[in-house]
Amino acid sequence: MKKTIFTAMGICLLMSACGNAPKKAETNSFVAENVAHAHQQLGNEIKVIEASGKVLNPVTIKADGTTHYCKYSDWRSGFFPGSIWYLYELTQDETLLPLAIKYTNNIEETKNLTWHHDVGFMVNCSFGNGLRIADVPGYKDIMIQTAHSLSTRFRPQAGVIQSWDVKGGWQAERGWECPVIIDNMMNLELLFEVTRLSGDSTFHHLALQHADRTLKEHFRPDGSCYHVIDYSLADGSVRHRHTAQGYAHESIWSRGQAWAIYGYTICYRYTKDKRYLDQALKTFHMMANHPNMPEDLVPYWDMLAPEIPNEPRDVSSASCIASALYEIAGFEELENAKEYKDYADRIMTSLASPAYRAEIGQNNNFLLMHSVGSIPHNAEVDKPLNYADYYFIEALKRKNDLEK
Ligand code: GLY
Repeated sequence: MKKTIFTAMGICLLMSACGNAPKKAETNSFVAENVAHAHQQLGNEIKVIEASGKVLNPVTIKADGTTHYCKYSDWRSGFFPGSIWYLYELTQDETLLPLAIKYTNNIEETKNLTWHHDVGFMVNCSFGNGLRIADVPGYKDIMIQTAHSLSTRFRPQAGVIQSWDVKGGWQAERGWECPVIIDNMMNLELLFEVTRLSGDSTFHHLALQHADRTLKEHFRPDGSCYHVIDYSLADGSVRHRHTAQGYAHESIWSRGQAWAIYGYTICYRYTKDKRYLDQALKTFHMMANHPNMPEDLVPYWDMLAPEIPNEPRDVSSASCIASALYEIAGFEELENAKEYKDYADRIMTSLASPAYRAEIGQNNNFLLMHSVGSIPHNAEVDKPLNYADYYFIEALKRKNDLEK
């Protein structure tokens, strides 16, 4: 960690601007060992970034072996800053606070982005954590502005937030009018949170409409979900049930299932509407009981991919599901909550093993190996991904909280 780049005075000023540092989390040995590992590994990445003299945002490893750093407008831009926030919270290493703020502020322009839906991921993981952990001045307004930007994509005929524009890129070739992807459930957290922060219930109501229409249209009777539902802009009817990143329209793209489990868990957190928790659990049980689920509980990139068992795994799905399960395990009203924690613990044991967790200094300083971005787009196949790392660290935090 590059402690020397921050003067004691600078840190003090930041600490007083941002309120008190979080109380250091008491950690059990599994969590402590993994947090120490993450601290060292991401600390190495921080050294690389700081030595560059730029503010870089690492995402994955490119084909030539170098690190891919993204611009603020990339849907993955909030995960690295968010990981630094969680590390700060878990370690109370004060040198991380100004870095978390710097990497977060670097993507502030996201608040005005209206051409895709992922601003919830981007701003909630970064600014949202910064606000929660350190109450950084200005972050609340950035969250609110982002919610306004996301709301511009609400399409009242269908009662959904449109995920992708269809005027350009590969999306333009699919014949869609108003594509909504299951991933969009993850953006609702920002809307719920901004209503809580601002008292403006508009955002909460938009989120509910989106969640309810998605509940109706995205799921099959077995609890698995489609990736893309395309709606008519004229009358809101469903035009297509498709995939973009899965093996086939009727297959089970694993990260989509992870987004559904996590997304409906969020909806339950903010509403206590049992339909949402039931859907999260139904999708989870479909995955857990699927005959193609490997023994180590790290899913194939698609549970119906044709060459299983010779298909890539997707660690990002596993870490996202583990994090969601820890939240579910914390719902005291759930009688069998402990079963969900036990399952999440088994996933985490796999992810922390040498099969998936990189050694210090390896893997271009990412924590976890073996994720899949998109096989149909031949993008990031069997690579580290910053969101796999983010949900892994979040899961460590949630596991730690549960075990306190
Ligand atoms: N939200 C895009 C993905 O899951 O790959």
